[in-house]
Amino acid sequence: MNVLILGSGGREHAIAWKLRQSARVSKIYCAPGNGGMASVAECVPIKLSEIDRLISFAKEFRIGLTVVGPDDALAAGMVDRFEAEGLRIFGPRQACAQLESSKVFAKEFMQRYGIPTARSANFTDSGEARKFARSMSLPLVIKADGLALGKGVIIAESIEQVDAAIREIMDERRFGDAGRAIVIEECLEGPECSIHALVDGGSYLMFPSAQDHKRALDNDAGLNTGGMGTYSPAPQLTAELEARVRSEVLDRFLEGIRAEGLDFRGMLFPGLMLTADGPKVLEFNCRFGDPETQVLLARLESDLLELLESVIDGTLAKCRPVWAGGAAVCVIAASGGYPGDYVVGKPISGLGEVGDKAIVFHAGTRLEGAGLVTAGGRVFGMTSVGSSLRQARDEAYAALARVSFEGMHFRRDIAEKGLQLA
Ligand code: AMP
Ligand code: GLY
Repeated sequence: MNVLILGSGGREHAIAWKLRQSARVSKIYCAPGNGGMASVAECVPIKLSEIDRLISFAKEFRIGLTVVGPDDALAAGMVDRFEAEGLRIFGPRQACAQLESSKVFAKEFMQRYGIPTARSANFTDSGEARKFARSMSLPLVIKADGLALGKGVIIAESIEQVDAAIREIMDERRFGDAGRAIVIEECLEGPECSIHALVDGGSYLMFPSAQDHKRALDNDAGLNTGGMGTYSPAPQLTAELEARVRSEVLDRFLEGIRAEGLDFRGMLFPGLMLTADGPKVLEFNCRFGDPETQVLLARLESDLLELLESVIDGTLAKCRPVWAGGAAVCVIAASGGYPGDYVVGKPISGLGEVGDKAIVFHAGTRLEGAGLVTAGGRVFGMTSVGSSLRQARDEAYAALARVSFEGMHFRRDIAEKGLQLA
């Protein structure tokens, strides 16, 4: 079967790498892909906004399965468009993808089905929002309704910060139409945990847990990023908490989509906070996480193609995937200045010396002549699987030490919180 993967990050490289191991996959294309994926896929220069061209490509190259990586393609209705042409595609349709693309929609869904989440209120009028905020205790979390590249969430410690957040999001439309509405919610405390569960409309299959590191610098200092590294499993999610995630989040999610006639087929990735009152959902993502996918797929021993097809066919209940027993760690190497301004085009050296104890999943890289240069904020992820979290962590960092580019920065404390608990 020929497969087409849509996207260009480490997540898409990891999906391509894993599908390459499937005996039933003959050729993998990635649109638009990145400079480092050549060993597993052929990159096709078509943008994800060019849906007609992607559909023509899928027909011409006899694509048996298309896999959608990023949220904005799902929100734009990529899956609906492919399905209308009779093409097989993995990912939720637009109506279901609203669970990620509208925080107001997601909060109302959670409230209807008793899914634990922060107490909140929604506003389309900035004056009403300011009035409400004054009746609440600080800190408060202000969230733009729509997709904002992970930057539309502001934790406000003072009423001045609340007012500034409401002004920037709603009045000045810093994130465009994403700021037409906002959610204001209570600030929760506790470790964060990323849950991934495949959903086939009628049942779900939970993957092992992972923990992301959202802040740019060690000890969770600096600005929020797309994710600076991750590890799996997250020991913070004890067996008892995992049982609560199943019964209070995933079972109720299934009940909700059934009751609303939402035929959700794809990956559900709830971002959780493990509070003193139990797990609470911060947000629903409707896709694989990045960098979470880099550690999860590195640990997956079963055929990913079979899992993805079971989601589309509604036969997930028969799947029993096998996971590497130990742990995996991924450390992201980012361009100097990221998540602020950064320069690209820096030659990357040492990729040939990484060895066989780690896998490099490329993100912001581009081929230039015979070599690779940087082409984005998050440049690549270095992932190791080990029999223990410590071993995986040590091997990922040892491999990372062999690679360099001008301005490269990475966190030195990835998996540290997990190691303290292990
Ligand atoms: P979201 O895009 O909703 O996941 O939010 C991005 C990040 O903001 C999360 O990963 C948390 O670190 C933080 N965050 C979101 N909602 C809350 C909340 N209610 N309380 C505390 N932190 C939050
Ligand atoms: N790593 C968080 C995300 O993919 O949204």
